[in-house]
Amino acid sequence: MCRGTAPVLYDCPFVDPSPVPDQQLPRHVAISMEGNGRWAEGRGLSRSEGQAAGTGAVRAVVERCGELGIPWLTLYSFSSENWSRPSDEIDALMGLLIARLDEEVPDLVEKGVRLRHYGSRDRLSSSVLAALDGACEATATCERLTLGLAIDYGGREELARAARRCVEDGLKPAEVDEAAVATRLDTAGAPDPDLLIRTAGEHRLSNFLLWQVAYSELYVSDLCWPDFDKAAFDAALEAYAARERRFGGIESS
Ligand code: IPE
Ligand code: IPE
Ligand code: MG
Repeated sequence: MCRGTAPVLYDCPFVDPSPVPDQQLPRHVAISMEGNGRWAEGRGLSRSEGQAAGTGAVRAVVERCGELGIPWLTLYSFSSENWSRPSDEIDALMGLLIARLDEEVPDLVEKGVRLRHYGSRDRLSSSVLAALDGACEATATCERLTLGLAIDYGGREELARAARRCVEDGLKPAEVDEAAVATRLDTAGAPDPDLLIRTAGEHRLSNFLLWQVAYSELYVSDLCWPDFDKAAFDAALEAYAARERRFGGIESS
């Protein structure tokens, strides 16, 4: 819900109960949405059709976070390296992004979802930027869930940007500490992800949130992204709840 409006969907008594006690839920889930192309190729469809099919999984996960009260969700949607893909695939992806943003905004507002963009702006077209900025602006006061979209995002570029900002802000070498960097990242203000999910069985980060995942719990699903549904998300939450996080300390007895 946006500020001042009544809850719409999530207080409905018919939503599936949380798979774990509330205090064992992650506060921030980041997902590297992988395997759209493979899902499509396995069905004789184009890679772009696979990416379009992936929007159903996005909706399922956003809704589930809303239902469970998970306040932060970040989705890896397009990496700084994905520009190396064929231009027709990139064009279809950007077209899909614009269409989904334009269409989903009223529903996002109703459900209390605030959008944020993480990544570089320089290479995105003016029409993508307009859709992105419009959606971020329209949802700016929403408070239930912050949905971060990593678009033209690369963790190394983000770190270089933060370093550049330290210089631009005139920081002295001794002032460049972890807090100085963290507050200049694209994700400034967001808690670090507690849980990082990657689909399609891939065990690598692919330049996603390199700084922020220092102590995230990693979970790999073998499902391709379009098949990742609420049950799959709940399974990841259950696995997370069973982990013991130590942050460099020792095992608790
Ligand atoms: C992930 O799916 C989404 C994007 C990178 C846009 P892919 O398009 O990478 O699909 P696979 O991993 O090649 O199957
Ligand atoms: C990572 O997937 C980027 C996104 C999920 C948007 P890629 O498909 O680009 O990563 P690699 O090439 O498998 O490492
Ligand atoms: Mg991929």
